[in-house]
Amino acid sequence: MSSSVLVTGATGKTGRRLTPQLVERGVTVRAASRDPVPPSAGMEPVRFDWLDETTYPAALDRVHAAYLVVTDNAIGQAGAFLMTGPESLTLAEVAGHISAAAGRQVRYVESGPEPIQEALIAAGITADFAAYVAQLYTASAGSGAMAAVTDDVAAVTGRPPTSFANYAADAAGAWLR
Ligand SMILES: NC(=O)c1ccc[n+]([C@@H]2O[C@H](COP(=O)([O-])OP(=O)(O)OC[C@H]3O[C@@H](n4cnc5c(N)ncnc54)[C@H](OP(=O)(O)O)[C@@H]3O)[C@@H](O)[C@H]2O)c1
Repeated sequence: MSSSVLVTGATGKTGRRLTPQLVERGVTVRAASRDPVPPSAGMEPVRFDWLDETTYPAALDRVHAAYLVVTDNAIGQAGAFLMTGPESLTLAEVAGHISAAAGRQVRYVESGPEPIQEALIAAGITADFAAYVAQLYTASAGSGAMAAVTDDVAAVTGRPPTSFANYAADAAGAWLR
């Protein structure tokens, strides 16, 4: 069975660009918006409104993954969601899961912002933005600001979030290249 991905905001700026790229890769797209477009090859339009929970089951039926555009009107009405995994992990624990999945040792090394900034610049990011991202990342990772765990994934999708261990097992090939 081909994989099926729900794209909310499918008629918007980001969804309109993402949808054809997924279809091109053989993915069936459940294209969701309040005013669905006509169906086409690889695309199943569905009416979906964040403010109307009765539209959730049809949008989520048989989808394997979701691209969620949480629109400003939905945030205003329902409050913001904080989508998290099921558990809070240290970066050393993350490295442990990757090691187990990839079958080779991957260690977390505390580096400070400079090496991160250099790697981002080497990847083509501008120096100012690289400095900003590196500082933001080290400050938030070191302060526990990313440690929150919520039930919002289950509340929005009706399914529990995937654990990092399961994600790492599925994505193991990425660390074997
Ligand atoms: N574009 C960017 O570069 C960018 C950058 C940073 C952040 N963002 C944020 O990312 C989100 C989406 O961006 P975008 O540029 O793709 O948005 P957009 O072009 O404004 O499109 C919004 C999409 O959401 C749908 N929508 C609006 N209200 C809805 C509701 N109540 N329930 C379900 N669908 C609804 C609209 O379709 P219908 O009207 O047919 O329902 C449309 O497909 C926004 O919150 C935006 O602030 C965008």
